[in-house]
Amino acid sequence: MEGNTSKLQQIESNDKRPQFGNRILSNSDNVFQHNAWDNVTWNEEQQNLAQQKVNENSTIILSEQKIEEYECEADKYWDKFYGIHENKFFKDRHWLFTEFPELAAVTVKQNITQPLRTISESTDQDDKRTHIKILDLPSNNGNQILEIGCGVGNTVFPILLYNTDPNLFVYCCDFSAKAIDILKQNSAYDTSRCKAFILDITQERWETPFEPGSLDIIVLIFVLSAIHPDKMQHVIQQVHKYLKQGGLVLFRDYGRYDLAQLRFKKGSCLAENFYARGDGTRVYFFTQEEVRTLFKTCGFTEEQNLVDRRLQVNRGKQLKMYRVWIQGKYRK
Ligand SMILES: C[S@@+](CC[C@H](N)C(=O)[O-])C[C@H]1O[C@@H](n2cnc3c(N)ncnc32)[C@H](O)[C@@H]1O
Repeated sequence: MEGNTSKLQQIESNDKRPQFGNRILSNSDNVFQHNAWDNVTWNEEQQNLAQQKVNENSTIILSEQKIEEYECEADKYWDKFYGIHENKFFKDRHWLFTEFPELAAVTVKQNITQPLRTISESTDQDDKRTHIKILDLPSNNGNQILEIGCGVGNTVFPILLYNTDPNLFVYCCDFSAKAIDILKQNSAYDTSRCKAFILDITQERWETPFEPGSLDIIVLIFVLSAIHPDKMQHVIQQVHKYLKQGGLVLFRDYGRYDLAQLRFKKGSCLAENFYARGDGTRVYFFTQEEVRTLFKTCGFTEEQNLVDRRLQVNRGKQLKMYRVWIQGKYRK
């Protein structure tokens, strides 16, 4: 437990991203004093301006055929992306443990009242006797974790590194064969604790190395936004199917009016709030309500649904960049 805690502290202190909600901008004159501000509030004018930009870039001028090509070739575009960037694009997501402590099972000492018998040696007398045993138990049930859309492992490897649960097993999947290939070549890929496999989550039937109803946690980090909005509900249904009763989804993704959305030029829009980047990969921008509906429709209970509004500042260029992410926790 000690080792685990200090490692976590180390992550927090090394992580450039301060804990969510940590640094509040109370006086706008101070905006260029730091690189980033948390929990920024938007006024009506800013909201309207953002909507105006989205209206401007939302005209769909691409042909049906081109839009269909983006859909059919989606894995090829991501393969190409990973072929170019390999494992150098996304940084290891150490901040995950601040937002999602569930991923780093911390063991706790617990008093357990336990009958003194084993199945093969029970006697009537044994059945009546109990004793107090101190056990190390994981503080959550996150033994079997699946990350969907794992890319090259920027979430998976930090989990394997910092989660000391001896029973931990991490599954991870992506439809990019290239990404899975790169992930498997990582020296931290330990097949006794992790299994990576190829899966297109938009497929009707999933072929998985685990049974339905068997997973404790499913992680969806910047992946749902990469698939067509028409297919999102199916993905969440499948997520529900493979989780245990009581299992948890950890979700984080792009929010409506994030800087990345406002920067799209006319001609990139494929559907409402869904765009193609220059490299052919696609991205959707969610509202809190949309995320809520996706999960609740499938029978999940909401434990968290927040909008993380962050102001990133380029002090040199005196630029202000408004980032918006949606974060949620949903329980089966
Ligand atoms: C923005 S990246 C995020 C990667 C990783 N989750 C992270 O946070 O570093 C989106 C990932 O989703 C994967 N992806 C997109 N559509 C998918 C699909 N239909 N099935 C499985 N993976 C998909 C992509 O290949 C890519 O690795």
